[in-house]
Amino acid sequence: MSAHPRVLITRSVPPAGIDPLKAECDVWVWPEEDQIPVEEFKKRAAGVTAIFCHPPDMINRDLLDAAGPSLKVVGTMSVGLEHIDITECRRRGIKVGHCPNVLNDAVAELTIALLLSAARRLKEGYACTNGEETWQNALFLCGHEISGSTIGIVGLGRIGMAVARRLQAFKVAKFLYTGNSQKSYAEEVKAEFVSFDKLLENSDFVIACCSINANNRGLFNKAAFKKMKKSAIFINVSRGVLVNQDDLIEALTTGEIYGAGLDVTTPEPLPPDSPLHSLMNCLVTPHLGSASLKTRNEMASLTARNILAGIRGEDLLRCVVVQAFDFGQGF
Ligand code: DGY
Repeated sequence: MSAHPRVLITRSVPPAGIDPLKAECDVWVWPEEDQIPVEEFKKRAAGVTAIFCHPPDMINRDLLDAAGPSLKVVGTMSVGLEHIDITECRRRGIKVGHCPNVLNDAVAELTIALLLSAARRLKEGYACTNGEETWQNALFLCGHEISGSTIGIVGLGRIGMAVARRLQAFKVAKFLYTGNSQKSYAEEVKAEFVSFDKLLENSDFVIACCSINANNRGLFNKAAFKKMKKSAIFINVSRGVLVNQDDLIEALTTGEIYGAGLDVTTPEPLPPDSPLHSLMNCLVTPHLGSASLKTRNEMASLTARNILAGIRGEDLLRCVVVQAFDFGQGF
């Protein structure tokens, strides 16, 4: 039997993540493109020292029981932690590392791309460049401008701030934000702290950047969409479960809101027959927030370094703090 620590990796990761681990550990990587099935995950976890995972691989009691007492550290290649039972890990003395900060720029850039695309109706535009449309009407595919608009940010954390800083360049009239507390750094973008309802009622663009916690699942429901302006555009780069998706589909279909740009859905991938694909006022991207080469390499490297630190009994570079999980990172 090998004396090296055993590391289980639940999906293929770039060399920046796997090479440092291979230098010191016995590494096993789930070889398929699909998510590792739960039973296989439990079987492979037995006796490992570390798990390198990614949402939605569930690190719950069952999985921790299957891994057993050898498990010292879980490193998730994500900032999001909704797939990990942090309390249970803590109770068992298992360290949990994640990837805050390194993805802020990439997620903020994708958010701007979604917002611009939804506001200027690019999905409809792409669909009618085949010569069949006349394009003669002066109001042909007219959308909305960001300049002069009010932007409402739900969750002004690291990513929310990165989005607001970029949007300043688009001559936004006003930023509103909501969340579990007022942020002193909001002053930098002159963002006003308001209630969720006030944000919905007054924003031209509503951007969800918050992390998921026990209180905000389904936050965007029928009642919330009803409070939004009929001209409002909803952008979600948080998690699909923040939204009641049937209510969103209804709001987009009936004109309760103008449009949406979604990088996250329930489930992921979104089934081909979901109405969200065919609605021309809804753009869906496949959870690409952090998907730049630079950022994914940095996330992989940070996850590997977190794991190696945990194996050596050192402090993790980015250890999960209880508040970040219990109260949401910025919401
Ligand atoms: C994250 O890191 O949480 C991103 O959303 C990717 O899952």
